[in-house]
Amino acid sequence: MLKLSRRHMIAGGAGLAGLAVLANRPSDKSGPRDPYFVSLQKALTDAGIATPTLVIDRARLNANIDTLMGHLPPGMGYRIVAKSLPSLDLIAHIRDRAGTDRLMTFNQPMLNTLSAHMPDASQLVGKPLPVVAAKTYFRLLSPQNVAASDQVQWLIDTPTRLAQYADLSKAVGRPFQVNIEIDVGLHRGGFVPGPDLAAALRTIADSRHLKLAGFMGYEPHLPSLPTAFGWRAAAKQKAWEIYRQCLRLAADAEGVERVPGLTRNAAGSPTYRYYQDTEIANEIAAGSCLVKPAHFDTELLEPHVPASFIATPVIKASPTQMPGLEFLDGIKRFWDPNTQRTVFIYGGHWLADPVDPPGLAYNPTFGRSSNQEMLNGGAQLDIAPDGFVFLRPQQSEAVFLQFGDIAVFDDGAIVDRWPVFEASA
Ligand SMILES: Cc1ncc(COP(=O)(O)O)c(C=O)c1O
Repeated sequence: MLKLSRRHMIAGGAGLAGLAVLANRPSDKSGPRDPYFVSLQKALTDAGIATPTLVIDRARLNANIDTLMGHLPPGMGYRIVAKSLPSLDLIAHIRDRAGTDRLMTFNQPMLNTLSAHMPDASQLVGKPLPVVAAKTYFRLLSPQNVAASDQVQWLIDTPTRLAQYADLSKAVGRPFQVNIEIDVGLHRGGFVPGPDLAAALRTIADSRHLKLAGFMGYEPHLPSLPTAFGWRAAAKQKAWEIYRQCLRLAADAEGVERVPGLTRNAAGSPTYRYYQDTEIANEIAAGSCLVKPAHFDTELLEPHVPASFIATPVIKASPTQMPGLEFLDGIKRFWDPNTQRTVFIYGGHWLADPVDPPGLAYNPTFGRSSNQEMLNGGAQLDIAPDGFVFLRPQQSEAVFLQFGDIAVFDDGAIVDRWPVFEASA
């Protein structure tokens, strides 16, 4: 008869626990390179590029523009979010393909640049700017371009800012178009339907210097809300009811006939597909979904494709050796096969995730570096010095400004370079 001793039981238990731990060992994620990135690498090499570079795939960008425009219901306008696509040439390309003259601008230098280079474009300021920044805009505007300022819709979030802008309008001697920021649930400021908004709308209606251009109600919080118990759907309905109430107040102040012609701006990349008709919004603003950084990998944006990558040369490639912890290298390699090999890349520490060669990851022990960043990969990591590692930006607005001119990739070659805006807030 089999008789289990206490010692056998403990040894058996430990063995099982050991097996369970081993079963949780990370699997090797390294493997052959994606032919797409191999062709991108060849294009960069052929173009003589050997520094960290932001690449936009023009065919993919075009596909994203067409996807966006294809989703819009009849009569819905499209406003390009300039901060998420921070390059004049990139914006010009999108304007052309999407057939839109509407931009959303987020800071004074960008406002001046766009007024100088695209004086015919409508610019809705996407965040309320201190009135001193607006003053600076007028000071820097060249006299022959002053008409471009009439195309700007100044975003106003409080009665105080309204009064400041009314004074500035008098001082510059031109009427201002006022767009009212409304809080449709994001709680990032703005008016809510009520006496303050009614008073502000009356002030605008009575003013010779101010003209009501419309409203802006941004609701990027909606897709993050749980769908359980109809939570998200209820928040969306609430947002739209707030918008409706604001439009009713505008009708009271301005006359009902003015409402259809107002700019009724809403949405951003994560929410533009919510707008299936023009009952509430008559234009949506979106930018990021056209280049699709990683933070925009959402269900609604699934039809959009990643169209921007950071490409950076490998400086060094070797087996992994952790400084001062070399005695642990063998155990670490045994435990996690993805730590077998190391590459040091040119630059680094960007808001971006490595995508090719497959299986590359940052090393939390070694830490991040903007000079030569360490990335680790498995035994099949197939890259040597001067080959390119590709990373996917997590967002575009800051990351795109870190690499100089964008390299435009199309049909297997780098076909253009697009300068970016100067980095400014
Ligand atoms: C007011 C406003 N509208 C729209 C957007 C959407 O931009 P994106 O499509 O790049 O997310 C933003 C982004 O911050 C915003 O602040």
